[in-house]
Amino acid sequence: MELITVNTKEEMARLAAEIIAKTVSEKPDAVLGLATGDTPVHTYSLLCEKCSEKLIDFSKIKTVNLDEYVGMGYNDKQSFKRFMFDNLFDKINIKHENIHIPDGKVADIALECENYDRLINSLGGIDLQLLGIGHDGHIGFNEPSTEFIYETHKVMLDPVTVKANSRFFKNENEVPRFAITMGISPIMNAGKLLMLAGKDKKEILMQAIFDGVTPSVPASVITKHKNLTVIYCNE
Ligand code: F6R
Repeated sequence: MELITVNTKEEMARLAAEIIAKTVSEKPDAVLGLATGDTPVHTYSLLCEKCSEKLIDFSKIKTVNLDEYVGMGYNDKQSFKRFMFDNLFDKINIKHENIHIPDGKVADIALECENYDRLINSLGGIDLQLLGIGHDGHIGFNEPSTEFIYETHKVMLDPVTVKANSRFFKNENEVPRFAITMGISPIMNAGKLLMLAGKDKKEILMQAIFDGVTPSVPASVITKHKNLTVIYCNE
């Protein structure tokens, strides 16, 4: 594991954008695993800038997102799909058919989960997976549990997550209670993992990377990955 500590969010985003850009230039048809949330927003804006300056080309890139709320789609402004279009996809030269996000609106969620794993396999897996970490130690929406769940699955959000994500909604009651999340397998099978965490995640991040692997802190599993970079920002 490479643990890089930086002082500012700007520096964290710049480094992360450089790592992603390097993957894209080395493998122009790479599969990028993407995350939503506050942490990667500036990284995405730097990637958009690089793309408008023609320093990075997303025309052959494929993406798979980690998660989506059950019941939400592009027309819901808090959906992860909408987040990704607003913060990245609408501003880069990616082909829409190469964008993949679990569909929270389908009637058969179990089938959507199975199809999502099949899709990731058919793409040949993920080359680089970008990750944030929840205050409860989640990655994607793999919430603390007694066992790791390896496949894409429907998950009931932990009360800690519901509270944390209520900042995007009018109030806590409006936060969906269920989500679809990529499981641990596609994440751990990715060629490279890049985790970003700010100061508010210090305690849980240190627990995840130094206190041993346990499903009660799902992010701890990434310490077993052979190509992991964690960028921690002291701001
Ligand atoms: C989002 C995701 C989550 C977030 C985590 C941190 O797609 O998978 O695991 O990365 O909840 O969110 P922020 O960055 O908002 O603190």
